[in-house]
Amino acid sequence: MALRPYVVGNWKMNGTRAMLAEARAIDRSAQRLMKVEVALAPPFTLIHAVHREAEQIGVGAQDCSPSPDGAYTGDISAAMVADSGAKFVILGHSERRQGHGESDALVLAKADAALAAGLKLIVCCGETEATRDAGEAERFVTGQLAASLPAAIDAADERLSVAYEPIWAIGTGRTPTVADIGTMHRAIRKLLVERYGEEQGSAVRILYGGSVKPENARELLGADEVGGALVGGASLTAESFLGIVMASVDLQDA
Ligand code: PGA
Repeated sequence: MALRPYVVGNWKMNGTRAMLAEARAIDRSAQRLMKVEVALAPPFTLIHAVHREAEQIGVGAQDCSPSPDGAYTGDISAAMVADSGAKFVILGHSERRQGHGESDALVLAKADAALAAGLKLIVCCGETEATRDAGEAERFVTGQLAASLPAAIDAADERLSVAYEPIWAIGTGRTPTVADIGTMHRAIRKLLVERYGEEQGSAVRILYGGSVKPENARELLGADEVGGALVGGASLTAESFLGIVMASVDLQDA
């Protein structure tokens, strides 16, 4: 059975309590959209409040520490993330890999900590423009993922998703072609099946991220092996985010 598409909003470092109204509006509409799994990853400071608002949508974090507890000023452990009401965590986003120097090994350590805390994971990967221009995108992305993904996942329980986000497409309005997305997602699927076996590897949803908007969502979500979207800028208002969710519903119905 095909998994429901997964459409996740990554609010990044945006949002104060004033934005809870957007989360509420997304949740109230998502209640009517059972064909798609909808989730939001607000900043840490809003997780609990969004969790209290949300009846239908999932709530997650954008990062967690690999360490269980202790003297790590400013860090948040996976168990704290879970305790705040989050059900998943985004790991290895390029803004953390590049802006905070996160290595594949660190992303993997965080993934293991998150799984131990009972969280679901969205592990991100993606190449720079220079890497794509050099014809190295597939090799780079599959290598990055191979080194960032946990060694094992529980049987087909939807705990792991992967997000392919070409760095040059994030926040730029530029996107890869549908053919290029399909080629990359097939390469990622092959890696997942090699690592986790046919059944579990096929059950992992591979999200596309990078300048997804209501206007291009249907096309991008319709690419081969795309199981949903990780949405940044366009997830900040209920109107644009729900436009993307609706595109995903339309595709299901088509
Ligand atoms: P964007 O960001 O939709 O604003 O391009 C996507 C992401 O970084 O997850």
